[in-house]
Amino acid sequence: MCGIVGYIGTKKACPILLAGLSRLEYRGYDSAGVSTIEKDELSLMKDKGRVKNLSNLDGIDKLEGTIGIAHTRWATHGKPSKENSHPHQDNSKTFSVVHNGIIENYNELRNFLLDNGYTFYSQTDTEVIPNLIHYHYTKDTQNDDLKFLRAVKNACLEFKGSFAIEVISKLYPDNMIVVRQDSPLVIGTCEDEKYLSSDIPAILSYTRDFYLLNDLEFVVLTNTTAKFYDKNLNEIEKQTQNIEWNACSAEKDGFDDFMLKEIYEQPTAIRETIGSKISLNTKCEFDELGFTKDYLSNLNKIYIVACGTAMHAGLSGKNAIEKLCRIPVEVDIASEFRYRDPIIDEKTLCIFISQSGETADTIAALKLSKEKKAKTLAISNVIGSSITREADYSIYTHAGPEIAVASTKAYTSQVMLINILAIYFAEVLETCTTSYLNELKKDILELPKKIEETLKCNESIKNFAKQIYQEKDVFFLGRGIDETVAREASLKLKEISYIHSDSYAAGELKHGPIALIENDITVISILTDANLIKKTVSNIQEVITRGAKTLIVTNKEIDNSMFNFVINIPDTNCFISPILSIIPLQLLAYYISKEKGLDVDKPRNLAKSVTVE
Ligand code: AGP
Repeated sequence: MCGIVGYIGTKKACPILLAGLSRLEYRGYDSAGVSTIEKDELSLMKDKGRVKNLSNLDGIDKLEGTIGIAHTRWATHGKPSKENSHPHQDNSKTFSVVHNGIIENYNELRNFLLDNGYTFYSQTDTEVIPNLIHYHYTKDTQNDDLKFLRAVKNACLEFKGSFAIEVISKLYPDNMIVVRQDSPLVIGTCEDEKYLSSDIPAILSYTRDFYLLNDLEFVVLTNTTAKFYDKNLNEIEKQTQNIEWNACSAEKDGFDDFMLKEIYEQPTAIRETIGSKISLNTKCEFDELGFTKDYLSNLNKIYIVACGTAMHAGLSGKNAIEKLCRIPVEVDIASEFRYRDPIIDEKTLCIFISQSGETADTIAALKLSKEKKAKTLAISNVIGSSITREADYSIYTHAGPEIAVASTKAYTSQVMLINILAIYFAEVLETCTTSYLNELKKDILELPKKIEETLKCNESIKNFAKQIYQEKDVFFLGRGIDETVAREASLKLKEISYIHSDSYAAGELKHGPIALIENDITVISILTDANLIKKTVSNIQEVITRGAKTLIVTNKEIDNSMFNFVINIPDTNCFISPILSIIPLQLLAYYISKEKGLDVDKPRNLAKSVTVE
């Protein structure tokens, strides 16, 4: 939820750290801070509010140190304030620490430290970290090269919860120690510089060579070296990974906001996600999976588990897998799944979808499924992310970095990939004819062009947004696959425009929610399934009768006269229609947010990557 960056090299650290924080601000933006080593002393500057407040602090431009750590916060323990901002230091100001995650047993540790004479100045869980490191450091009677590392390690082994931590000390002006457990942290490496960050895009402009850390791997960095240790402090070998994304894809490229840019990147994201997996008359390629007919036909169930938008993509996966492969699929919200004692065994395949690959609930659900002996398959956008390192199998969307908190291109890429997965399963199982699947593949290959076509609704949507941006409630309706899109559209609207909205299965309206329909309320419906259109139109008729104004997104010829506003999108196979039908509704959420003058990319209370439970 928070963002951390670090630098150790030959240049002034502070400007690099501030630039990194600005790129990570989507992860949290209620306060920010930086600490560098200045002539054997630790500097510490922090403030409430955005990174630009920090950049304007008196004296920050005077920091000369070439090693430093920085943090942008999304408050969990303690309100946003200067005292609660990171970095935090121990009482003797020997160690500075930034932390992303939650130390669940911090109360216990705080009491222990209070009993040992330590004082606390913030309400955060993080403040126990530097003090516990200091405690272990002073108790250690050995004075060898590993003393600093040992103190960090001994402290970390006492923590319960999740953490990505960077530590610097005035006693070790050439070193930084970092470690992670269930929270993201990557190390970018160049010849005489090391860049650290919660995610890859923030430091892509410096390097494409990264070390990806596993849980409880401790790293001692100098500007030229990176030494890795396991939790028993045995040295371990680690290779760098080369990341293909380029730095431009993490910039706005002339768009006003990342969200709009990412909406417009969807033709490329879908093209890249399809890659070489789909071609007519040849079977889908998933070399990394290699599932046999025997394995798939013996499955009793597939679970698709995810959060938020990724879960909505999972719903479209259920539709495709059940219809093409005739395997029962259950879709679950990760935070519910992990606590409801799900029925899982070795005949269950559990699929986890996560753009970031770092969502705490999704990772925990995956670990639970493994314990219960299911095979686990991760779908992520981030190579080497936690979820992909935990899962038995991983496949990737190729949407490129998604920076805006509201997910757009990641969603459509997830819908794409899970549909391709369904085709792959159907081919292995031989549950569909080649000609039927070929028709679907043809539609998939035409999608990038059709997305470009769909994006042309931009101006009409902008106008409609002007008409409804002051509304208090908006409803979304759909049936079948369109109902899954209604859910996603409703989430998009509420998260960036702060308008209350809800989505309903159109046929369910008359069982209660229709009581909410009153004169002039906006009801938005998606109509792409030829078999269900008439039924949904009848439900829309019911809300029109009660005074609603209606926006329709459709790919079919319908009588437009009864609706206030109709957006026509290109026709395609029902399984993949969400990839087109969501686009006008992503744009609608975007333009409503703009009309209201809100921060589209960083909506209030939200963070891009939810690494806490
Ligand atoms: C979508 O716009 C969200 N901001 C949110 O629902 C997101 O999809 C969810 O938190 C899951 O994230 P993940 O895909 O990185 O796991």
